[in-house]
Amino acid sequence: MDQLISSIEALKNEISAFSVGSKEQLEAFRISFLGSKGSVKALMAEMKNIPADRKKEAGALLNDLKLFAEQTYDSMSQLIDGKQGGSEVSSVDVSLPGYPNALGGRHPIRIIENRIISIFNRLGFSVAEGPEIEDDYHNFSALNLPQDHPARDMQDTFYISKNPDWLLRTHTSSIQIREMEKSELPLRIICLGRVYRNETISARAHCFFHQMEGLYIAENVSFADLKQTLYFFVKEMFGEQVKVRFRPSYFPFTEPSAEMDISCRICEGKGCSVCKKTGWVEILGCGMVHPNVLENCGIDSKKYTGFAFGLGIERITMLHYQIKDLRYFSENDLRFLKQFVSS
Ligand code: PHE
Repeated sequence: MDQLISSIEALKNEISAFSVGSKEQLEAFRISFLGSKGSVKALMAEMKNIPADRKKEAGALLNDLKLFAEQTYDSMSQLIDGKQGGSEVSSVDVSLPGYPNALGGRHPIRIIENRIISIFNRLGFSVAEGPEIEDDYHNFSALNLPQDHPARDMQDTFYISKNPDWLLRTHTSSIQIREMEKSELPLRIICLGRVYRNETISARAHCFFHQMEGLYIAENVSFADLKQTLYFFVKEMFGEQVKVRFRPSYFPFTEPSAEMDISCRICEGKGCSVCKKTGWVEILGCGMVHPNVLENCGIDSKKYTGFAFGLGIERITMLHYQIKDLRYFSENDLRFLKQFVSS
Protein backbone atom coordinates (compact mmCIF):
# COMPACT_ATOMS: atom_id res chain seq x y z
CA MET A 1 0.00 0.00 0.00
CA ASP A 2 2.78 2.44 0.92
CA GLN A 3 4.37 1.62 -2.37
CA LEU A 4 1.12 2.59 -4.15
CA ILE A 5 0.80 5.88 -2.24
CA SER A 6 4.31 6.96 -3.15
CA SER A 7 3.77 5.94 -6.81
CA ILE A 8 0.57 8.07 -6.92
CA GLU A 9 2.47 11.05 -5.47
CA ALA A 10 5.31 10.59 -7.98
CA LEU A 11 2.88 10.40 -10.89
CA LYS A 12 1.05 13.58 -9.74
CA ASN A 13 4.38 15.42 -9.69
CA GLU A 14 5.19 14.11 -13.15
CA ILE A 15 1.80 15.28 -14.47
CA SER A 16 2.24 18.74 -12.92
CA ALA A 17 5.69 19.10 -14.43
CA PHE A 18 4.54 18.14 -17.94
CA SER A 19 4.33 21.13 -20.25
CA VAL A 20 2.65 21.06 -23.67
CA GLY A 21 3.02 23.60 -26.49
CA SER A 22 1.27 21.87 -29.36
CA LYS A 23 -1.54 19.47 -30.23
CA GLU A 24 1.03 16.71 -30.76
CA GLN A 25 2.48 17.14 -27.26
CA LEU A 26 -1.04 17.18 -25.80
CA GLU A 27 -1.76 13.88 -27.50
CA ALA A 28 1.51 12.48 -26.13
CA PHE A 29 0.35 13.52 -22.64
CA ARG A 30 -2.98 11.77 -23.14
CA ILE A 31 -1.36 8.54 -24.34
CA SER A 32 1.27 8.52 -21.64
CA PHE A 33 -1.06 9.22 -18.67
CA LEU A 34 -4.67 8.59 -19.67
CA GLY A 35 -4.34 6.09 -22.53
CA SER A 36 -5.29 2.42 -22.16
CA LYS A 37 -1.63 1.59 -21.66
CA GLY A 38 -0.90 4.81 -19.74
CA SER A 39 0.55 5.19 -16.23
CA VAL A 40 -2.79 5.93 -14.49
CA LYS A 41 -4.30 2.69 -15.84
CA ALA A 42 -1.13 0.82 -14.84
CA LEU A 43 -1.43 2.02 -11.24
CA MET A 44 -5.11 1.10 -11.16
CA ALA A 45 -4.12 -2.46 -12.04
CA GLU A 46 -2.22 -2.53 -8.72
CA MET A 47 -5.58 -2.57 -6.89
CA LYS A 48 -5.57 -6.36 -7.00
CA ASN A 49 -2.49 -6.46 -4.77
CA ILE A 50 -3.96 -4.19 -2.09
CA PRO A 51 -5.28 -5.91 1.06
CA ALA A 52 -9.09 -5.90 1.29
CA ASP A 53 -9.26 -3.61 4.32
CA ARG A 54 -7.40 -0.86 2.49
CA LYS A 55 -8.99 -1.22 -0.94
CA LYS A 56 -11.47 1.61 -0.24
CA GLU A 57 -8.71 4.04 0.69
CA ALA A 58 -6.59 3.03 -2.32
CA GLY A 59 -9.58 3.32 -4.69
CA ALA A 60 -10.24 6.90 -3.50
CA LEU A 61 -6.59 7.89 -4.01
CA LEU A 62 -6.50 6.36 -7.49
CA ASN A 63 -9.77 8.09 -8.48
CA ASP A 64 -8.33 11.33 -7.23
CA LEU A 65 -5.24 10.79 -9.39
CA LYS A 66 -7.34 10.00 -12.46
CA LEU A 67 -9.42 13.16 -11.94
CA PHE A 68 -6.27 15.21 -11.52
CA ALA A 69 -4.82 13.85 -14.79
CA GLU A 70 -8.08 14.47 -16.65
CA GLN A 71 -8.46 18.05 -15.38
CA THR A 72 -4.85 18.82 -16.28
CA TYR A 73 -5.49 17.42 -19.74
CA ASP A 74 -8.66 19.55 -20.20
CA SER A 75 -7.05 22.81 -19.16
CA MET A 76 -3.99 22.16 -21.34
CA SER A 77 -6.21 21.33 -24.30
CA GLN A 78 -8.13 24.63 -23.86
CA LEU A 79 -4.85 26.49 -23.85
CA ILE A 80 -3.72 24.77 -27.05
CA ASP A 81 -7.07 25.43 -28.81
CA GLY A 82 -6.76 29.07 -27.85
CA LYS A 83 -3.32 29.24 -29.37
CA GLN A 84 -4.70 27.88 -32.63
CA GLY A 85 -7.27 30.75 -32.75
CA GLY A 86 -10.27 28.66 -31.72
CA SER A 87 -11.26 30.36 -28.45
CA GLU A 88 -11.22 33.58 -26.50
CA VAL A 89 -7.89 32.73 -24.92
CA SER A 90 -6.40 33.70 -28.30
CA SER A 91 -5.05 37.22 -28.66
CA VAL A 92 -3.98 37.73 -32.29
CA ASP A 93 -4.06 35.50 -35.31
CA VAL A 94 -1.55 37.09 -37.64
CA SER A 95 -2.63 34.90 -40.53
CA LEU A 96 -6.12 36.47 -40.76
CA PRO A 97 -6.68 39.13 -43.47
CA GLY A 98 -6.70 42.71 -42.10
CA TYR A 99 -9.69 45.06 -41.96
CA PRO A 100 -9.90 46.96 -45.28
CA ASN A 101 -9.57 50.74 -45.02
CA ALA A 102 -12.54 51.99 -47.06
CA LEU A 103 -11.46 54.78 -49.41
CA GLY A 104 -13.77 57.66 -50.29
CA GLY A 105 -14.77 58.31 -53.89
CA ARG A 106 -14.72 61.49 -55.92
CA HIS A 107 -17.86 63.59 -56.20
CA PRO A 108 -19.41 63.34 -59.69
CA ILE A 109 -18.95 67.09 -60.18
CA ARG A 110 -15.22 66.69 -59.47
CA ILE A 111 -14.96 63.69 -61.81
CA ILE A 112 -16.43 65.74 -64.68
CA GLU A 113 -14.29 68.78 -63.77
CA ASN A 114 -11.19 66.60 -64.02
CA ARG A 115 -12.26 65.30 -67.42
CA ILE A 116 -12.88 68.84 -68.67
CA ILE A 117 -9.49 69.97 -67.36
CA SER A 118 -7.71 67.12 -69.11
CA ILE A 119 -9.45 67.88 -72.44
CA PHE A 120 -8.46 71.57 -72.33
CA ASN A 121 -4.98 70.77 -71.06
CA ARG A 122 -4.42 68.95 -74.32
CA LEU A 123 -5.28 72.19 -76.17
CA GLY A 124 -2.75 74.12 -74.09
CA PHE A 125 -5.17 75.70 -71.58
CA SER A 126 -4.03 75.96 -67.98
CA VAL A 127 -6.24 76.23 -64.89
CA ALA A 128 -6.80 79.53 -63.07
CA GLU A 129 -8.69 80.13 -59.82
CA GLY A 130 -9.99 83.16 -57.96
CA PRO A 131 -11.91 84.26 -54.85
CA GLU A 132 -15.57 83.30 -54.28
CA ILE A 133 -16.20 86.60 -52.49
CA GLU A 134 -15.65 89.20 -55.19
CA ASP A 135 -15.93 92.93 -55.55
CA ASP A 136 -18.45 94.54 -57.86
CA TYR A 137 -15.72 95.64 -60.26
CA HIS A 138 -14.34 92.17 -61.07
CA ASN A 139 -17.74 90.49 -61.18
CA PHE A 140 -19.59 93.20 -63.17
CA SER A 141 -18.07 96.57 -64.07
CA ALA A 142 -14.88 95.30 -65.67
CA LEU A 143 -16.98 92.90 -67.70
CA ASN A 144 -18.75 95.79 -69.42
CA LEU A 145 -21.64 95.83 -66.95
CA PRO A 146 -21.65 99.32 -65.40
CA GLN A 147 -23.75 100.02 -62.25
CA ASP A 148 -27.04 100.67 -64.02
CA HIS A 149 -26.71 98.02 -66.74
CA PRO A 150 -29.98 96.08 -67.10
CA ALA A 151 -28.07 92.82 -67.75
CA ARG A 152 -27.09 92.78 -64.07
CA ASP A 153 -30.63 91.52 -63.48
CA MET A 154 -29.80 88.38 -65.50
CA GLN A 155 -27.92 87.12 -62.46
CA ASP A 156 -29.68 87.42 -59.08
CA THR A 157 -26.78 88.42 -56.91
CA PHE A 158 -26.11 87.74 -53.22
CA TYR A 159 -24.56 90.90 -51.76
CA ILE A 160 -22.59 90.89 -48.53
CA SER A 161 -24.33 93.12 -46.01
CA LYS A 162 -21.12 94.36 -44.38
CA ASN A 163 -19.99 96.03 -47.58
CA PRO A 164 -22.31 96.63 -50.56
CA ASP A 165 -19.30 96.46 -52.85
CA TRP A 166 -18.78 92.80 -51.96
CA LEU A 167 -20.77 89.92 -53.35
CA LEU A 168 -20.64 86.18 -53.92
CA ARG A 169 -19.37 85.84 -57.48
CA THR A 170 -22.17 85.07 -59.91
CA HIS A 171 -19.85 83.62 -62.55
CA THR A 172 -16.22 82.63 -62.94
CA SER A 173 -15.71 85.45 -65.49
CA SER A 174 -14.31 87.45 -62.55
CA ILE A 175 -11.28 85.12 -62.59
CA GLN A 176 -10.75 85.97 -66.26
CA ILE A 177 -10.58 89.67 -65.40
CA ARG A 178 -8.01 88.98 -62.68
CA GLU A 179 -5.92 86.95 -65.12
CA MET A 180 -6.17 89.57 -67.91
CA GLU A 181 -5.06 92.27 -65.47
CA LYS A 182 -1.77 90.42 -65.13
CA SER A 183 -1.27 91.24 -68.84
CA GLU A 184 0.78 88.21 -69.71
CA LEU A 185 -0.16 87.54 -73.31
CA PRO A 186 -1.01 85.32 -75.07
CA LEU A 187 -3.39 84.02 -72.43
CA ARG A 188 -5.00 80.59 -72.61
CA ILE A 189 -6.84 79.60 -69.42
CA ILE A 190 -9.83 77.79 -68.05
CA CYS A 191 -11.36 79.02 -64.79
CA LEU A 192 -13.27 76.63 -62.57
CA GLY A 193 -15.17 77.17 -59.37
CA ARG A 194 -18.36 77.54 -57.42
CA VAL A 195 -20.70 80.44 -58.22
CA TYR A 196 -23.80 81.76 -56.43
CA ARG A 197 -27.14 83.09 -57.64
CA ASN A 198 -30.27 83.81 -55.65
CA GLU A 199 -32.51 81.31 -57.39
CA THR A 200 -35.30 79.13 -56.05
CA ILE A 201 -33.97 75.62 -55.51
CA SER A 202 -35.55 73.07 -57.86
CA ALA A 203 -34.61 70.05 -59.98
CA ARG A 204 -33.05 72.42 -62.55
CA ALA A 205 -31.68 75.33 -60.48
CA HIS A 206 -29.80 75.89 -57.22
CA CYS A 207 -28.51 78.89 -55.31
CA PHE A 208 -24.97 77.68 -55.96
CA PHE A 209 -23.45 75.65 -58.77
CA HIS A 210 -20.13 75.16 -60.56
CA GLN A 211 -18.85 76.83 -63.68
CA MET A 212 -16.01 76.40 -66.08
CA GLU A 213 -15.07 79.29 -68.30
CA GLY A 214 -12.39 79.45 -70.96
CA LEU A 215 -10.47 82.41 -72.33
CA TYR A 216 -7.98 82.70 -75.16
CA ILE A 217 -6.38 86.03 -76.01
CA ALA A 218 -3.67 86.49 -78.64
CA GLU A 219 -3.18 88.19 -81.98
CA ASN A 220 -5.61 87.18 -84.75
CA VAL A 221 -7.90 84.98 -82.67
CA SER A 222 -11.16 84.51 -84.58
CA PHE A 223 -14.65 83.10 -84.12
CA ALA A 224 -13.52 80.09 -86.19
CA ASP A 225 -10.91 79.31 -83.50
CA LEU A 226 -13.66 79.47 -80.88
CA LYS A 227 -15.86 77.06 -82.81
CA GLN A 228 -13.02 74.66 -83.45
CA THR A 229 -12.07 74.61 -79.76
CA LEU A 230 -15.65 73.93 -78.70
CA TYR A 231 -16.13 71.22 -81.35
CA PHE A 232 -13.07 69.47 -80.01
CA PHE A 233 -14.31 69.74 -76.43
CA VAL A 234 -17.79 68.42 -77.21
CA LYS A 235 -16.55 65.44 -79.24
CA GLU A 236 -14.06 64.50 -76.53
CA MET A 237 -16.66 64.91 -73.80
CA PHE A 238 -19.72 63.35 -75.39
CA GLY A 239 -18.41 61.30 -78.31
CA GLU A 240 -18.06 61.65 -82.08
CA GLN A 241 -21.76 61.17 -82.85
CA VAL A 242 -22.93 64.25 -80.94
CA LYS A 243 -24.38 67.11 -83.05
CA VAL A 244 -23.69 70.77 -82.32
CA ARG A 245 -25.43 74.03 -83.23
CA PHE A 246 -24.78 77.69 -82.43
CA ARG A 247 -27.52 80.28 -81.84
CA PRO A 248 -26.89 84.04 -81.72
CA SER A 249 -27.19 85.41 -78.19
CA TYR A 250 -26.27 88.36 -76.01
CA PHE A 251 -23.71 88.81 -73.24
CA PRO A 252 -22.40 92.27 -72.30
CA PHE A 253 -18.81 91.00 -72.21
CA THR A 254 -18.72 89.34 -75.65
CA GLU A 255 -19.52 90.59 -79.14
CA PRO A 256 -20.67 88.75 -81.17
CA SER A 257 -22.14 86.26 -78.66
CA ALA A 258 -23.65 82.83 -79.12
CA GLU A 259 -25.09 79.92 -77.23
CA MET A 260 -24.18 76.38 -78.13
CA ASP A 261 -26.57 73.43 -78.08
CA ILE A 262 -25.79 69.73 -78.40
CA SER A 263 -28.14 66.99 -79.54
CA CYS A 264 -29.93 65.51 -76.53
CA ARG A 265 -28.09 62.46 -75.24
CA ILE A 266 -31.07 61.16 -73.30
CA CYS A 267 -33.44 60.75 -76.27
CA GLU A 268 -30.80 60.93 -79.05
CA GLY A 269 -32.62 63.92 -80.55
CA LYS A 270 -36.11 62.39 -80.64
CA GLY A 271 -37.51 64.74 -77.97
CA CYS A 272 -37.90 64.19 -74.20
CA SER A 273 -38.49 66.15 -70.98
CA VAL A 274 -34.79 66.98 -70.56
CA CYS A 275 -34.59 68.69 -73.97
CA LYS A 276 -38.18 69.97 -73.67
CA LYS A 277 -39.09 67.95 -76.76
CA THR A 278 -36.72 69.94 -78.99
CA GLY A 279 -33.97 67.32 -79.33
CA TRP A 280 -31.39 69.99 -78.36
CA VAL A 281 -29.86 70.94 -74.99
CA GLU A 282 -28.13 74.26 -74.36
CA ILE A 283 -24.76 73.72 -72.74
CA LEU A 284 -22.78 76.95 -72.95
CA GLY A 285 -22.52 80.63 -73.74
CA CYS A 286 -19.63 82.06 -75.73
CA GLY A 287 -18.37 84.87 -77.93
CA MET A 288 -15.52 87.16 -78.88
CA VAL A 289 -14.28 89.18 -75.89
CA HIS A 290 -15.75 92.71 -76.06
CA PRO A 291 -13.07 95.37 -76.81
CA ASN A 292 -14.22 97.32 -73.72
CA VAL A 293 -13.34 94.35 -71.51
CA LEU A 294 -9.86 94.09 -73.04
CA GLU A 295 -9.27 97.83 -72.59
CA ASN A 296 -10.54 97.68 -68.96
CA CYS A 297 -7.73 95.20 -68.30
CA GLY A 298 -5.09 97.25 -70.08
CA ILE A 299 -4.98 95.10 -73.22
CA ASP A 300 -4.70 96.83 -76.62
CA SER A 301 -7.93 95.79 -78.37
CA LYS A 302 -6.54 96.85 -81.78
CA LYS A 303 -3.70 94.39 -81.49
CA TYR A 304 -5.30 91.55 -79.57
CA THR A 305 -8.55 89.65 -79.91
CA GLY A 306 -9.88 86.76 -77.90
CA PHE A 307 -12.74 84.38 -77.32
CA ALA A 308 -14.46 83.29 -74.13
CA PHE A 309 -16.98 80.63 -73.23
CA GLY A 310 -18.70 79.49 -70.05
CA LEU A 311 -20.65 76.43 -69.00
CA GLY A 312 -22.34 74.95 -65.95
CA ILE A 313 -20.61 71.78 -64.74
CA GLU A 314 -23.82 70.44 -63.16
CA ARG A 315 -25.51 70.53 -66.56
CA ILE A 316 -22.68 68.59 -68.22
CA THR A 317 -22.59 66.08 -65.36
CA MET A 318 -26.36 65.55 -65.56
CA LEU A 319 -26.15 64.93 -69.30
CA HIS A 320 -23.15 62.64 -68.94
CA TYR A 321 -24.61 60.43 -66.19
CA GLN A 322 -28.27 61.03 -67.12
CA ILE A 323 -29.13 62.53 -63.73
CA LYS A 324 -32.53 64.25 -63.70
CA ASP A 325 -32.38 66.29 -60.48
CA LEU A 326 -29.69 68.84 -59.66
CA ARG A 327 -30.38 68.68 -55.92
CA TYR A 328 -28.71 65.26 -55.60
CA PHE A 329 -25.32 66.93 -56.01
CA SER A 330 -25.52 68.82 -52.73
CA GLU A 331 -27.49 66.44 -50.50
CA ASN A 332 -24.52 64.25 -49.55
CA ASP A 333 -26.58 61.07 -49.80
CA LEU A 334 -24.08 58.22 -49.87
CA ARG A 335 -26.49 56.03 -51.86
CA PHE A 336 -26.17 58.58 -54.68
CA LEU A 337 -22.48 59.37 -54.28
CA LYS A 338 -21.35 55.73 -54.16
CA GLN A 339 -22.55 55.15 -57.72
CA PHE A 340 -19.72 57.11 -59.27
CA VAL A 341 -16.39 55.57 -60.03
CA SER A 342 -13.75 58.13 -60.79
CA SER A 343 -11.87 57.73 -63.99
N1 PHE B 1 -20.38 84.32 -67.68
C1 PHE B 1 -21.49 83.82 -68.42
C2 PHE B 1 -22.55 83.32 -67.47
O1 PHE B 1 -22.26 83.02 -66.36
C3 PHE B 1 -21.10 82.72 -69.36
C4 PHE B 1 -20.25 83.20 -70.51
C5 PHE B 1 -18.89 83.19 -70.37
C6 PHE B 1 -20.80 83.62 -71.66
C7 PHE B 1 -18.09 83.63 -71.40
C8 PHE B 1 -20.02 84.04 -72.70
C9 PHE B 1 -18.66 84.05 -72.59
O2 PHE B 1 -23.70 83.23 -67.85
